[in-house]
Amino acid sequence: MTKPLSKADYSPAGVTVHHDPARVTRVVRALRAAGRNIALVPTMGALHAGHRKLIREAHVMQNTVVVVSIFVNPLQFGPNEDLDRYPRNLESDVDICREERVGIVFAPSAEDMYPSGATASVSPGVLGTELEGATRPGHFDGVLTVVAKLFNIVGPTYAVFGEKDYQQLTLIHRMARELNFPLDVVGVPTVREYDGLALSSRNRFLDAEQRQTAVALSAALVAGAHVSAQGPEAVLRTARDTLAAVPGIDLDYLELRAPDLGPAPEKGDARLLVAARVGTTRLIDNAAVLLGDGDD
Ligand code: PAF
Repeated sequence: MTKPLSKADYSPAGVTVHHDPARVTRVVRALRAAGRNIALVPTMGALHAGHRKLIREAHVMQNTVVVVSIFVNPLQFGPNEDLDRYPRNLESDVDICREERVGIVFAPSAEDMYPSGATASVSPGVLGTELEGATRPGHFDGVLTVVAKLFNIVGPTYAVFGEKDYQQLTLIHRMARELNFPLDVVGVPTVREYDGLALSSRNRFLDAEQRQTAVALSAALVAGAHVSAQGPEAVLRTARDTLAAVPGIDLDYLELRAPDLGPAPEKGDARLLVAARVGTTRLIDNAAVLLGDGDD
């Protein structure tokens, strides 16, 4: 029998913060038994307007309790990456969640999440070694492993992710389908600054000059999409020329792929993806493009 929920478990009047995975599982189970849908928004904290949009999307579903997880997952950071300098401020993140009418914040420690280490993991397959995976070996194993754990702990009806991390979203869709997670993965379009820069927790590491330079990523995507009727070569050439015209962009990749990140078609729907370093900060962005006249 499900134990009744106390006010410390869940309060419809405000946000409840939990750290213990077993307790969250018990609370969401009771909420589901009471007929509520659970929408999960997995994050690493440092919440910004992009996360607010994910939370608002989660609220669109009827009769839903929104659960935001906040966990800087060590498994998805390489040895030379920014795990230590990744911004952490639980108090201000919880304030944002309160403003956005989140029901539960799940903020476990690494010890809570990996009490006996992390020997078992989810493998992303070949796609996990391409694009982001080529410069960040093991990154997507870490992402999929923690997301699978969050799915099992929270048992959501919906899980909401941003399209800004398009490869991540694609791999999570695939994992949910192939491993039969009984939930819907929902992708939400990227939120941008007034000049097109995609919102990211990493933007705070850019100084004023780098911030100006970083706009070149979204500008290149727009320029490429603008000539998409002329086909894949024109898209790539135009986007590459736009990036090359801006000093301070250290391009990692610029690729055109199918929407599922397989090889790009000559005509029809495709995805243009870019990654570059601006100073020491690595930024990514992507956009949908319609190649050729798109009418086949
Ligand atoms: O996109 C992120 O913030 C992270 O990769 C995620 C999905 C929360 C997993 O740690």
